[in-house]
Amino acid sequence: MSQVLEVKNLTKTFRGRRDWPWSPKSVAVEPISFTLGAGETLAIMGETGSGKSTLAKLVAGVESASGGAIYLNGQKLYDNNTKQRCQNIRMIFQDSEKSLNSQRTIGQQLEEPLLFNTKMNPEQRYHSVVQVLRKVGLLSEHYEFYPHMLSTGQKQRVAIARAITLEPQIIVADEALVALDPSVRAQIINLMLDLQQEMGISYIFVTHSPQIVKHIADKILILYRGKMISFEQTELLLNKSQEPYVEQLLHEHLSTEHSNKKRQKR
Ligand SMILES: Nc1ncnc2c1ncn2[C@@H]1O[C@H](COP(=O)(O)OP(=O)(O)OP(=O)(O)O)[C@@H](O)[C@H]1O
Ligand SMILES: [Mg+2]
Repeated sequence: MSQVLEVKNLTKTFRGRRDWPWSPKSVAVEPISFTLGAGETLAIMGETGSGKSTLAKLVAGVESASGGAIYLNGQKLYDNNTKQRCQNIRMIFQDSEKSLNSQRTIGQQLEEPLLFNTKMNPEQRYHSVVQVLRKVGLLSEHYEFYPHMLSTGQKQRVAIARAITLEPQIIVADEALVALDPSVRAQIINLMLDLQQEMGISYIFVTHSPQIVKHIADKILILYRGKMISFEQTELLLNKSQEPYVEQLLHEHLSTEHSNKKRQKR
């Protein structure tokens, strides 16, 4: 499988308070390296504060790295470790409520990436947005809706719509399914897997849920206090004995039987 993403020795150190020179620096992510193939799904797991969101944000260019490098299709991203967005890597956050602008219609918000990144005219943008709305199971009528007129699950669909508008290669989802009830969560997971099949997207899922990992992940990366303590194929990881921390994360709720036929299950 061709590698879409290669992360090499990525680190992040947060500076202490700027106005307080002796405040301690905190190392959120120690040198981390991993790869992700086209159409693959990577789950990032670890206890709270282990650096999952920081790693996700570094990959998406939402945070700048302190060291290391990220390559997309062999090309180095975010030169000089500056914060930069890459059209080919989009991020979905935990709280779609907060990431939507309550003053603007769904259509206006979905058109934004097209306005800034393509030469489409207004009519083309409208049609493209309606197409994306349909792709995520919403209706063309939702174009005129404001965020408060949508359910939580519909807002999550809008967040996905916004992420796929520019047909990215990678979507990074930071606990994007936490706020959903189990039936809606299952629908959204299936939608994301369908889009993966249709568009060949690679996913990076930050999640606390072994159930979600079992259902979707090809590979699992486990963090412990900012260090990567494991990076393996899901199948292999679930079928061998682990150190207690990994065991607890993975096997508490999971049987060792991992179905790699995730798409056939649906
Ligand atoms: N902007 C920041 N400034 C200083 N320290 C930060 C900042 N963001 C994160 N950290 C620190 O980095 C470490 C990792 O945080 P991170 O948010 O990545 O954890 P996480 O694994 O996503 O946790 P959770 O499961 O609770 O979301 C924590 O110790 C946190 O305090
Ligand atoms: Mg987090």
